[in-house]
Formats: sequence, structure tokens, C-alpha cells
Amino acid sequence: MQTSDYQRLDRAHHLHPFTDFKALGEEGSRIIERGEGVYIIDSDGNRILDGMAGLWCVNLGYGREELVEAAAAQMRQLPYYNNFFKTTHPPAVKLAETLCRLAPPHINRVFFTGSGSEANDTVLRMVRRYWALKGQPDKQWVIGRENAYHGSTVAGLSLGGMAPMHEQGGPLVPKIAHVRQPWWFWAKGVPRARIPRPSDASVPRPWRRRSSSSARRRSRPSSPSRCRAPAAPSFPRRATGRRSRRCSRSTTSCWWRTR
Ligand SMILES: Cc1ncc(COP(=O)(O)O)c(C=O)c1O
Repeated sequence: MQTSDYQRLDRAHHLHPFTDFKALGEEGSRIIERGEGVYIIDSDGNRILDGMAGLWCVNLGYGREELVEAAAAQMRQLPYYNNFFKTTHPPAVKLAETLCRLAPPHINRVFFTGSGSEANDTVLRMVRRYWALKGQPDKQWVIGRENAYHGSTVAGLSLGGMAPMHEQGGPLVPKIAHVRQPWWFWAKGVPRARIPRPSDASVPRPWRRRSSSSARRRSRPSSPSRCRAPAAPSFPRRATGRRSRRCSRSTTSCWWRTR
């Protein structure tokens, strides 16, 4: 098939995320046919440096034979089985153990999901369930950052702080509040001391308004400074101190801790 054939079928049948469909209809989509190392090759033969690494998930590069062989061997042996109802399989057991060995010591259990959005949905539910079982069902508030991206499912977009996403698909998951982002460009002209840093533990106003003082004690939102999230946005270097740079390398908008 030619590029124009792919584009015609794509336009007719394929819904893309984060896409202006009018522009897509007019310009047609770019068809990526192959990957080699750090490059992708489109259906017109253009070789493009893949600066996004897929969607920042192809961290080993394209065309790795050992990955092809491992996937093919596993497909032959057991292409899929679930881990519900006290069941598991060797690759899941081994991968969980390997990840825990590589992770910091306090991270010692793994829950597998298919995407970052699902992971964030799952962890939101897990944390709320955890506190309910601990006898503190009111401890539900979660703090995110304005403009943070935590995925595109309903919980993911509620945790994230992107206004255009909030406008689509509401109502949002309740008891999630957002504090300002540590973003130098937004803060042009604002005194440096007033610009939030990734380590700031400012309590969001909606939480202050809605909580009674006893509920507040029990359900105090956790400090954003002690938490972890999966990917790192770029904070401009000059705008951040040593402490916040350290945070920006290892966390996104740091969003919660459970203790
Ligand atoms: C910090 C963060 N959380 C969640 C997600 C959502 O991940 P996915 O696209 O796999 O659903 C992303 C994706 O870019 C992300 O960067």
C-alpha cells in the first residue's frame, strides 16, 4: 500500500488521541513503518531521529534481536495468562522480583498494568482502600500540580492538572486538588521567593475550605515533597535550586505519600 492509501483508511477508521481531527483530515497522518536503533522510518522513506522514544517508552531502541527472540519464545510457550484469583506465571514472578531488586529498598511489591494511566487509576484506588482498611476512610485527598500530566483515563486526567483536559470528560474524580507548578516562565516578574518549588508542601485551598478540623487531622493530604511519580518533565535549570533539581530528575509533579 502507498502512503495515500494508509492515510485514507486511517482517516476513515482510526481515532487518534491528542489530535486535531480537522488538521489530521487535511494533512493526513504520518505513517511510521519501521524502527532501527534510535531512528524511525516513515512510509515515504524519511529517516527520523525518534526524540520521543515512542512515547518515551522505547528506552532500549528499535530492532533489538534479543527482545524479538524473548517475545517470540514467550508467545510460543504462553502468550497470555491472567494473575487474578491466586494465579501467576513465571515471567511475572521473575520480573516482579527483578524490579524490586533494582528499586529502592522500601519498594518491594509490584502491581502490573498496561499503561501509565492505568497505573495511576490503580494506585489511587489502592491508596484509598489502604486508608479505609486502616480505619481512616476520610483520608482521601490527593494533591497534584497544575499542568502535570498523569494520563488520559478519568482518574489520570483528574490527578493531572491540565485545564484543557479537565474541560473534556468531566465530572472529575473528587477529592483531588492542585497546587501551582514550579514553572519559571509562568512566573515571569514574580519574586523568586514566591515561585513554588517541587518540594513545596502548600495545602490546596479547596481542601482547607471543605474539611472540618477533625476530618482535616485525619485526612491531611500528604506533602508533595515525599512522593514519587513515573516520568520527569523538564524544569528549567536556572529556575530550580539544588533540592528541586534533584526532585525533578526522579519525579514528575511529586504527588503523594501514604505515611
Ligand atoms: C507522568 C506520567 N504519568 C502518566 C502517564 C500516562 O501514561 P500512558 O500514556 O502509558 O497511559 C504519562 C505518559 O506520558 C506520564 O508522563
